[in-house]
Amino acid sequence: MNDTGRRPLVAGNWKMNKTNAEAGDHCARLRHILHEGPHRAEVAVCPPSTSIETAAAALAGSDIWVAAQSVHEAAKGAHTGEISASMIVAAGAVGTIVGHSERRAAGETDAQVAARVRAALDGGLRVILCVGESLEQREAGETESWLTGQLRSALAQVAPEEVGRLAIAYEPIWAIGTGRTASPETAQEACAHVRAVAGERLDPAAVLVLYGGSVTPDNAAELMAQPDVDGALVGGASLDAEGFAEIVRAAG
Ligand code: PGA
Repeated sequence: MNDTGRRPLVAGNWKMNKTNAEAGDHCARLRHILHEGPHRAEVAVCPPSTSIETAAAALAGSDIWVAAQSVHEAAKGAHTGEISASMIVAAGAVGTIVGHSERRAAGETDAQVAARVRAALDGGLRVILCVGESLEQREAGETESWLTGQLRSALAQVAPEEVGRLAIAYEPIWAIGTGRTASPETAQEACAHVRAVAGERLDPAAVLVLYGGSVTPDNAAELMAQPDVDGALVGGASLDAEGFAEIVRAAG
């Protein structure tokens, strides 16, 4: 745990996992486990859109909140497969991930990410904005310039007073789902850079910066002990309620 005064956030990105019934069981289990002992971190789960309503119902009255995995920038219309901010809110979620690298790889552009951040905030949602470099970019020494570009674009329409509804997840693409976690030093260095660039528009002391990429119960504490790492966005390890709860507790 770092001692910055920022409350850590640990969010579980389930990606395309769990049916509705499995989501309900998982949330009930997670709620039960986390209720058994104290934890300092805020906790969120990001189920597939088919399970947002079930997850929100299973977690109602707890301090675990639900976020979608993506949002479309339009309010409604001919966008097959997409969901809007108002649909997400109506289903019971209070936030959404925006710009995950798996969606960027499928064609989501910087301009769309910026528009989606704006649409989510306008819709009353909290945002977990994802940024991160590829292995080729890291090896070419382009990590910082790449992150700077992604952040300046995504945050261009965010107002300073919205900082409390924004978390930025630094997720190096080479660490996602690979078991190749960034070292605490690498995570710290990149998260410090993310904070500095976000600081061009937002209070750097207030913005939450998370690390994501092969976070597990074994490496979470050391990662989140870094001064600029305010929590974690957890993929694979969030699918197991016990393991995810351990990561939550690792934040303090
Ligand atoms: P991972 O995924 O923890 O499975 O590496 C993280 C993410 O993509 O958010």
